[in-house]
Amino acid sequence: MTNFQVKTYDEYQQAYKRSIEDPEGFWSEIASTFTWRKKWNTTLEWNFEEPNVKWFKGGKLNITENCLDRHLKTRGNKLALIWEPNDPKERFVRYTYRELHEKVCQFANVLKKNGAKKGDRICIYMPMIPELAFAVLACARIGAIHSVVFAGFSAVSMADRINDAQCSMVLTSDGLNRGTKQIPVKRVVDEALESCSSVEKVIVVERLGWAVNMEEGRDVWYHDEVKDVSKDCPAEEMDAEDMLFILYTSGSTGKPKGVVHTCGGYMVYAQYSFSNVFQYEESDIYWCTADIGWITGHTYLLYGPLLSGATTLLFEGVPTYPDMGRFWQVCDKFGVTIFYTAPTAIRSLMGGDIDDVLSYSLDSLKVLGSVGEPINEEAWHWYHTHVGKERCPVVDTWWQTETGGIMISSLANVTPIKPAHAAFPLPGIQPILVDSEGKEITDNEVEGYLCMKFPWPGMIRTTYGDHERCRLSYFSTYKGLYFTGDGAKRDQNGLYRIIGRVDDVINVSGHRFGTAEIEEAINHNVHVIESAVVGYPHDVKGQGIYAFVICKDRPENDEWLRAEIIETVVEKIGKIAKPDKIQIVSGLPKTRSGKIMRRILRKVAEGDVSNLGDTSTLLDPAVVDEIVEGSLSKAKV
Ligand code: PRX
Repeated sequence: MTNFQVKTYDEYQQAYKRSIEDPEGFWSEIASTFTWRKKWNTTLEWNFEEPNVKWFKGGKLNITENCLDRHLKTRGNKLALIWEPNDPKERFVRYTYRELHEKVCQFANVLKKNGAKKGDRICIYMPMIPELAFAVLACARIGAIHSVVFAGFSAVSMADRINDAQCSMVLTSDGLNRGTKQIPVKRVVDEALESCSSVEKVIVVERLGWAVNMEEGRDVWYHDEVKDVSKDCPAEEMDAEDMLFILYTSGSTGKPKGVVHTCGGYMVYAQYSFSNVFQYEESDIYWCTADIGWITGHTYLLYGPLLSGATTLLFEGVPTYPDMGRFWQVCDKFGVTIFYTAPTAIRSLMGGDIDDVLSYSLDSLKVLGSVGEPINEEAWHWYHTHVGKERCPVVDTWWQTETGGIMISSLANVTPIKPAHAAFPLPGIQPILVDSEGKEITDNEVEGYLCMKFPWPGMIRTTYGDHERCRLSYFSTYKGLYFTGDGAKRDQNGLYRIIGRVDDVINVSGHRFGTAEIEEAINHNVHVIESAVVGYPHDVKGQGIYAFVICKDRPENDEWLRAEIIETVVEKIGKIAKPDKIQIVSGLPKTRSGKIMRRILRKVAEGDVSNLGDTSTLLDPAVVDEIVEGSLSKAKV
């Protein structure tokens, strides 16, 4: 589908100009190419004060009719989904659009049979198996709001998210495969549900064939439930501004927030951005390596490609199993043409033997993408040279859970590309840089805080159950603007380069964590009095987690204490948030008003202790010497 796909730089410039001069006309033409049960009355209603943003008000649709049903006539026998398992010896599975439609309808009927209905919140905690895709789309089909929780989060994290959204159902599996490991997923769900009274039903998909605990009256096996349901399920009619999903993400305060996206605008933006950034063509085999538990998996593994009628690949495994050539082997196996991954994966593979890449042809590849964190030039060049053979453009796509889709990125073979630069905004996107007072910086060759001054269809509408939090987090720092939390540079030609977060959010392997969230977890450990967490540059993860911890009664063996603290973080958040370094300290650098001077801790964590700036305003300047000394010794992991 090439609807409104710009093909040349000139067309991009024209589309961009039009999108600024007449945003409503621009988006309304694009939206008209979708299937609506009823056309909208108003294209856009907005203010960034409350905030109140409504796109396509009054329009009625179901996103799955656009992902599936509308393709059946022309693409019924085209492959929609290819599933490649963790173990290369296990057989892959493919689904045509017709088959995927049936699977989604069946799953939707299982949901209905178990009492799910429009407006219910359903938590999905599943590995990267086809049923995860069916489950997400099945929720959308019946108008239930999906809240996918990445299966690497702990029981406590899952429970927090379930309780926040008051989910009535959990969709999960017995276990999961990850490289050489098998993980008991259902056991984590059972533990979470001990503190979740809203959940009435748990539907369990069999992946490992394990005998798991099934609670009478609450838990059912998917394979039993699906036996006698129909392969057809009429799609629920949704309002354009009805919620489609909630996805939790970390901010600078302790509790993750439920970012809410709605049906109409998200649909239009997911498809438009997918088609334009990757310059998708009908015959492409597209692979996004992100987990569906993150926004990238939502928008660019599932919705964007399916809305475009594309063939999308779902991979259960990891880049390093059974060896470092796994990604490239899969690319050759299926003739992948568009490949979208994260810098952290590239950096970890760069560390391997170059033959792990060079022994695959990678002839089919046309376009490469990067997402989730700034891509350093070295990784960009390695990716471009060894994977893309200098033939494939690398698009560095900047966006966020809150933006719903890619905001600033080169369009493959269409707009200029510069290593480590996200480059230009997509048509319809109006970024600006502001200074600390919120004043727009209009020149080029500048640096500032990245904001958006006009709404776009895929943007966040609210944070679930707490609209004020949405306002405070994104719309209150700079009046009349959406603030991204990122700092950025604009070069002499107007190309953007994202520097990274300017708030207390750390980006570890492309995953966001609030420092406060990790501190809160660490502080749960009985030995801990207080902690302060900062990010520091990490060769593979982008940023690593460095924790400074004050303990009550320091045991003789610091190693043991560190292991305990790590265990607490794993229990409260998950393995993905494990601190890389823990330094036990007797105090933290605080101002007289009690505020932790993170600037100093960041410098120490970076190993740059030569110039710590002015420490005279500290309550106890001597504490800094001790911290510096400790950081230089082996007194940390
Ligand atoms: O700091 C930016 C960084 O990731 C943050 C968004 O994280 P999340 O909501 O988890 O979404 C990740 C996937 C879209 C941003 O605020 N980020 C994302 N992409 C890039 C990036 N930083 C630099 N370059 C990128 N291409």
